[in-house]
Amino acid sequence: MIIKNAEHEITAVKPNQYPVTGFPEVAFVGRSNVGKSSIINTLLNRKNLARVGQTPGKTRQINFFIVNNNFYLVDLPGYGFANVSKEMKASWENIIETYLYSRKQNHLKLVVMLVDIRHSPSKDDIIMHQWIKGFGMKSLIVATKADKISRSQINVRLNDIRKVLQLDKATKIIPFSSEKRTGKDEVLEEISLSMGE
Ligand code: GTP
Ligand code: MG
Repeated sequence: MIIKNAEHEITAVKPNQYPVTGFPEVAFVGRSNVGKSSIINTLLNRKNLARVGQTPGKTRQINFFIVNNNFYLVDLPGYGFANVSKEMKASWENIIETYLYSRKQNHLKLVVMLVDIRHSPSKDDIIMHQWIKGFGMKSLIVATKADKISRSQINVRLNDIRKVLQLDKATKIIPFSSEKRTGKDEVLEEISLSMGE
């Protein structure tokens, strides 16, 4: 897939703020700080279109990026961030779940779930993945920060993630690095396939 253009279209919290164009959407979910905003920048060849943070909890609303004037990449807040109040945590989880729930039928073509390649998926990751599967949504797993481990460790880590998330054979898992830009073409290919292109 060739990225011809990309722009931030809208920041939303509630469904009545989501775009109404009817274009297909690909959403990025995962724990805070796993690299959701970074992968969007990498895929779109931009440095800071989606805002990246040193501290977890950078993205607190939903950001819709319109790509090639015909589909959206959707940057969601992260979950599993320990250092916030219960109310804040509930509010972010509500934002994520409301988004997935209201878009699953008509707009959402693929949920890209990010996990840090260095760690086994957390309880939150397992719940999130079961939730996505339970709704019959198509998912792709991306193992981020692959630049932080040696090449020989990559398959060992992917197998562990596959096991902990209990992925079926049909679910792909792609090692990725926003730093080194590895895995970019594979992820774009999956996005393209999910939209029937
Ligand atoms: P929230 O918005 O808080 O949910 O986080 P996020 O998932 O959007 O993460 P973000 O893209 O903001 O990245 C968090 C931190 O991880 C930043 O310091 C990034 O520079 C760093 N980071 C993201 N991807 C990679 C990667 O592939 N390799 C390395 N080494 N660092 C990365
Ligand atoms: Mg973010």
